[in-house]
Amino acid sequence: MVTHQIKRVSLGHFPTPLHALPRLSEKLGGPQLFVKRDDQTGLATGGNKTRKLEFLVADALDRHMDTLITAGAPQSNHARQTAAAAAKAGMKCVLVLRGQPQSGRQGNLLLDELLGAEIRWAAREAVEATMSETANELSVKGYSPYLIPYGGSNPIGATGYVAAMEELMEQSRQMDLRFDRIVFASSSSGTQAGLVVGAKATGYTGQVLGISVDEKREDLQTKVAKLATETAAHLGQIMKFTPGDMDVNADYLGAGYAILGQPEREAIRLAAQTEGLLLDPVYTGRALAGMIDLIRKGCLRRDETVLFWHTGGTPALFAYAEGLVQ
Ligand SMILES: Cc1ncc(COP(=O)(O)O)c(C=O)c1O
Repeated sequence: MVTHQIKRVSLGHFPTPLHALPRLSEKLGGPQLFVKRDDQTGLATGGNKTRKLEFLVADALDRHMDTLITAGAPQSNHARQTAAAAAKAGMKCVLVLRGQPQSGRQGNLLLDELLGAEIRWAAREAVEATMSETANELSVKGYSPYLIPYGGSNPIGATGYVAAMEELMEQSRQMDLRFDRIVFASSSSGTQAGLVVGAKATGYTGQVLGISVDEKREDLQTKVAKLATETAAHLGQIMKFTPGDMDVNADYLGAGYAILGQPEREAIRLAAQTEGLLLDPVYTGRALAGMIDLIRKGCLRRDETVLFWHTGGTPALFAYAEGLVQ
């Protein structure tokens, strides 16, 4: 295991469940579908950031830092989970959220407050500067701030998904399963970069297919390849990844990031009504909508075994109540 030598704190519950989705498979007349439940990682309703934060918080504590600063959209799952990780580790947390202060408190934003994070609002182009100003201001006051990039996506955070791939391979071995493809929502590149490094390290030869939520295909391929190469180096592995080798599908961007459309609505209802499985409107709803379309087009065949990696996001459902019930 290539992640064993890296410092990690325990923030969640692992391994996450892995189970079949028989009624969804039947409804789609498609491959044998399974789901990896990273919506059940724990840490303030769960999600993919728990895995990244186990390594990021360990690094922060190792460096004697006492404050986590990160950034995201108003409904950022990453921000909410960072606030929870800080609370659990006894640290202070400042979240720099994009946009204008919002009057209503719903979904992740409500949880950010309950978890005790301080929220600062900044225009999109001022987010980075606000993060550094916040760090400087806190340093002057005697705090030791630790900056976490968007989505926790640097080599330390992405290590969480290298470990996730190691976990999946062990689980698949025990359950006698072999996945032809792994499909999931991809955005800031940390999840996909970790999975591709983990795939290479464990000998997984199926497809690791990221459904882009907000980036053009070439841009995301470039980001994933760069971060994967850096993550491997962080783990002492010599691996070189090129953009062309990264499997990214960006056909499902709809009207843009976090804009709920009919495909997401359909996917959310289908998963809920066939399997009692809740998806989120921004990431997993879009990824499953993409996967459903690929099944309907025959790109994912009936004789395949496919894993949908659920990456969390449940609280955002409540912030989209009006758009979901139409
Ligand atoms: C629920 C959920 N799924 C998927 C992603 C995408 O993961 P990554 O940013 O590592 O590509 C995010 C990122 O914020 C997320 O919140």
